[in-house]
Amino acid sequence: MCGIFAVIGSREVSSLLIDGLRKLEYRGYDSAGIATIDNSNKDNSGQINVKKSKGKLINLSNLIKQKLPKGHVGIGHTRWATHGKPNERNAHPHLDFSGQIAVVQNGIIENYRDISKSLAIKGIKFTSETDTEIIPHLIGLEIEQSLANGFPPNGHTLLKAVQKVLTWLEGTYAIAVIWSKAPNALVVASEQAPLVLGFGEGEFFCASDTPALVGFTRTFLPLRDHEIALLTPLGIELYGDDGNRQHRAPSLLQGTEFFADKKDFRHFMLKEIYEQPETAQQWLDRFLPMDLPSGNSVALPISTSLVERIEQIQILACGTSRHAGMVGAYLLEQFAGVPTKVYFASEFRYAPPPLSPNTLTIGVSQSGETADTLAALRMEKERRDSADDPNFYFHQLGITNRVDSSLGRELENVIDIESGIEIGVAATKTFLGQMLSFYGLTLLFASHRQKRSSQEILDLSHDLRLIPKQLADLIKKHDSLSQEIAHLFVDTKDVIFLGRGINYPIALEGALKLKEISYIHAQGYPAGELKHGPIALLDQHVPVVSIAVPGIVYEKVLSNSQEAKARDARLIGVSTYGPESEMFDELFTIPKVSEWISPLLTVVPLQLFSYHIAAHKGLDVDQPRNLAKSVTVE
Ligand code: G6P
Repeated sequence: MCGIFAVIGSREVSSLLIDGLRKLEYRGYDSAGIATIDNSNKDNSGQINVKKSKGKLINLSNLIKQKLPKGHVGIGHTRWATHGKPNERNAHPHLDFSGQIAVVQNGIIENYRDISKSLAIKGIKFTSETDTEIIPHLIGLEIEQSLANGFPPNGHTLLKAVQKVLTWLEGTYAIAVIWSKAPNALVVASEQAPLVLGFGEGEFFCASDTPALVGFTRTFLPLRDHEIALLTPLGIELYGDDGNRQHRAPSLLQGTEFFADKKDFRHFMLKEIYEQPETAQQWLDRFLPMDLPSGNSVALPISTSLVERIEQIQILACGTSRHAGMVGAYLLEQFAGVPTKVYFASEFRYAPPPLSPNTLTIGVSQSGETADTLAALRMEKERRDSADDPNFYFHQLGITNRVDSSLGRELENVIDIESGIEIGVAATKTFLGQMLSFYGLTLLFASHRQKRSSQEILDLSHDLRLIPKQLADLIKKHDSLSQEIAHLFVDTKDVIFLGRGINYPIALEGALKLKEISYIHAQGYPAGELKHGPIALLDQHVPVVSIAVPGIVYEKVLSNSQEAKARDARLIGVSTYGPESEMFDELFTIPKVSEWISPLLTVVPLQLFSYHIAAHKGLDVDQPRNLAKSVTVE
């Protein structure tokens, strides 16, 4: 979703801005822009240069490359349209009525309509359809007032004006502001939207996410809610919402692979699918090593006292992360015996269930920045804290790929899936890492509750340890098969995915992957539901993908698949090889494994199937239209 990158220092910044924005491209966007202050006039009167373009960053970089906008301070933005079409006019930065103040913003200003009306009454003309544009106008008016009151045109005057304006805004947002009369100042602020400060050598940065800082600095400090900062070429002043200076030590970026390269793969998504055996191996090495101390089933960073207190679990997540949560809920209930519910975070926030005692709330988010998930977790914390009853204590756990994210910072217990940076918008290896974390939790709860015999626990652990090798074999085999058959589905309009039990979430995930990257309408159903409606859609033009894995629902899924075949649907199986395989027109075979661990494998052919159809159609697999990797608005 929208990305902010801003810099102030002593060198020319336009190409740095493009560089920083490029590292935020993975978040998803539809237009881009930068503004710098050209201060080369002798009289020290700065001039704001704004350059914007629709579409990919390459358009913006081509636009400016003939004549790079000058300036030692600048703000950059990649926009994911919320208010107003994705065009050049609505792209950020936005200027105030005087053309002296430029602003970029992430998030949504909820009261912008009322404010725009009062600004219009004052005669201010709007040039865009965005909610953002009110901000530079408000700052412009405030600054006019300050100058009239004799305040000097400098960074502190800008800071004070922004501080005042923020008190009028409602919503969640992150902003960066520059003023042509204060070319040594950059003001940034955050209200429940991610923004990190970067400390370089003689230059300072702010960005929506840490990968943008790589190559510039490794020292960073995330802004907290309601904080505002004044960046100058000499340093950073940080203020809380009470206006007092804050002093916090910055952190050092961990890890080296912050900015991944595609290696020899055509797309990041394919590379990330291929990285799954490694993801699994690393997860196992950390959390399920062979040399676990006796009596321990898994090495997750979760205290025994927490596990002992928990009677039920609720999982809050969106998109693919919710599907991982659904696999987790199945395991936690059926294997470990812990009642578990999964919620769409966006629904939970406005329709939470009655408070349940001794409940563990798990937030799952690969990015750790999904606004709906964060808001749901915050709401749950607040309502449990205000219940003021130890039974309703907010027991919390996050599962994320980004421990340095808002989710990672806000929750006390976090499982870092450490899958390495994932660039493809369609999550693949992080889904695997999330599922594995639920297997870990399942082992933990099952052994503490003595729900399963030690042999059953050992069997599950043993099966998990075989997964990396099985994944590697599957990927190799099904990459070529799905490539071969992709052309058969290029004109397909609808696909139905069927699964049952532990593989029902995988049917949902298979359908989501196909929709996300190939723009083919797809729907996942529990196979038993086929006859209650979806079957009406079936004919030779609607293929059915059926996940049929030996286990308690195997025969049932096969019967449901037969029902589809009888309606002339082309049947694609994700199944073990056997006499029953004959019913499938196409078959992605998986090895004969325990049904418990099957989702870790069945998802792989579905990822490859979607990938090759999208790639065959020549689509932008890594950054599909309208989607964002990090959805920072509700
Ligand atoms: C977006 C992405 C999905 C992702 C979902 C949740 O919609 O396009 O791929 O599953 O957000 O993201 P999270 O970062 O919370 O896992």
